[in-house]
Amino acid sequence: MRGALLVLALAHVGGIAEASDAPAYVGPAACSSNNCHGSVTPRLDSERSLQNEYVTWYKSDRHAKAYDSLLTERGLRIARLLGMVQGPATAASWLESARQPERCLDCHALKLPGEPKLKPGDGVGCEACHGPAGPWLTGHTERGWEPARSIALGMRETMDPGKAAEICLRCHFGTATRTVDHEMLAAGHPSLVFELDTFSANMPVHWRENSSNRRWFRGGAWAAGQAVALRESAQRLAREVRERAWPDFSVYECSSCHHDLRQPSWRQERGYPGRRPGTPPLDTSRQALFALLARAVAPVESGRVAENVLERVRATSLDEETVHSLLHAIVDQAEPLAFAGFRTAQQTAWALDALAVARQGLLSGREDDQDPLCLRIEALFGLLRDAAAYDPARFAAAVRALRPALPSGGAAR
Ligand code: HEC
Ligand code: HEC
Ligand code: HEC
Ligand code: HEC
Repeated sequence: MRGALLVLALAHVGGIAEASDAPAYVGPAACSSNNCHGSVTPRLDSERSLQNEYVTWYKSDRHAKAYDSLLTERGLRIARLLGMVQGPATAASWLESARQPERCLDCHALKLPGEPKLKPGDGVGCEACHGPAGPWLTGHTERGWEPARSIALGMRETMDPGKAAEICLRCHFGTATRTVDHEMLAAGHPSLVFELDTFSANMPVHWRENSSNRRWFRGGAWAAGQAVALRESAQRLAREVRERAWPDFSVYECSSCHHDLRQPSWRQERGYPGRRPGTPPLDTSRQALFALLARAVAPVESGRVAENVLERVRATSLDEETVHSLLHAIVDQAEPLAFAGFRTAQQTAWALDALAVARQGLLSGREDDQDPLCLRIEALFGLLRDAAAYDPARFAAAVRALRPALPSGGAAR
């Protein structure tokens, strides 16, 4: 109710009278003019916008190609194995006659009934992340217009990395209605793994630090992303346990089923810590790093309700001391993290990388990924190229070998 009143009040201030049946979405082309977000080179005259976001998205961001990826031999093969396509079909045209095309389009495009300006071919456009722009499109170009006014009119609060993580995970983890489950993985869909700091860097980023998005920087995106991912995966597990006789295979650690039957096997050698032989362990990649983070950020509260700790961690800014002690804590846990499985190892490498870059930012104000610690962490990714060839003992040794390169002091400072 208060929200609705605020929207009305602000609409008046801005002089915008939105007809309620006007399409809410404008499509990415509406953001592409040269003076708006379609500049070819970044500009410095606006505090919050580089003004070349459209060009970055269109040229270098995979989201702009998300629909095109469906119309490939790989896309067709996945759809055929899922029974969405029967009879002859080509990569370029299978989607037109597919059964339940929304099984793919929900994540690979922004397509809503009654929104004529949205074209599936645009893939994942600006409004998939920033929210429907119709109500604030004109207003937000005015001088002195604050982001809060757009947010009251439906712009999403991407400046808060926790809120942004919620948006990303709708597609990069899934929801109750859009999923990449084990059936889809077995049909050939890539695994959905995610870490906010790394994935936004790889989008690539089309923003710079300004007065409203400070929390994204110096480790903030990593911490908020961990908290939100943990909450989403806990909710999903609860849903699976409630609604199905046996949770979907994708919530388990993949290698617990996908390994060969040699005797003695690496698993028999390692043992089955804490569980009966032959029962698949859950995928813990969304909890393992969070546990260390919670201990560093909210130590007193770690006995309290989990949601409480999540909120604390999500809103935290990491200082130098916390970053140092986290780097040490991760290296100290090299063994259990490595042996928890490929996905946990992936999260471990991403966490180390995010923290080492954050440390640079805290020390020098510049996020320099060429410093010696960052470069040594970079080498860990070489051990993570192929899930099937992942060797936990080698990965653990490589993480332990970082110790001499870590900043001394840490928690002791
Ligand atoms: C509407 C769904 C959707 C949302 C929201 C979304 N993504 Fe994506 N993302 C996708 C799809 C689909 C792809 C695969 C695109 C392709 O390659 O065809 C993708 C690809 C990516 C890739 C490239 C991965 C690779 O292997 O190269 C990155 C990085 C990425 N997304 C980051 C993000 C981040 C960060 C956010 C949140 C700020 C986000 N995404 C929000 C759907 C989404
Ligand atoms: C829950 C959201 C979601 C759904 C549903 C979904 N995808 Fe994806 N898809 C993604 C994301 C996210 C990626 C990028 C993964 C990454 O690289 O991290 C992706 C990647 C892909 C890729 C690889 C793109 C490339 O070139 O690297 C193909 C092909 C693909 N999806 C096809 C499909 C098909 C076909 C369907 C429907 C049967 C489908 N997807 C349903 C989210 C989804
Ligand atoms: C996959 C999700 C995603 C897509 C697609 C996307 N953005 Fe963003 N955008 C973000 C995130 C996350 C941020 C960083 C946080 C922030 O500053 O708001 C951001 C930041 C921005 C900012 C800086 C805002 C500020 O106040 O700091 C602008 C401007 C922007 N985006 C415009 C666009 C435009 C224009 C498009 C389409 C051409 C687009 N974005 C597509 C996720 C996305
Ligand atoms: C509880 C056991 C179990 C778990 C856990 C599991 N799978 Fe599977 N997976 C299977 C079975 C059974 C098949 C079907 C094998 C067949 O038909 O030959 C399969 C098939 C596959 C296939 C098709 C290729 C092949 O080798 O058959 C892929 C790809 C796959 N799974 C990926 C994954 C990924 C990724 C994960 C982790 C997110 C995972 N699986 C977790 C049991 C499992």
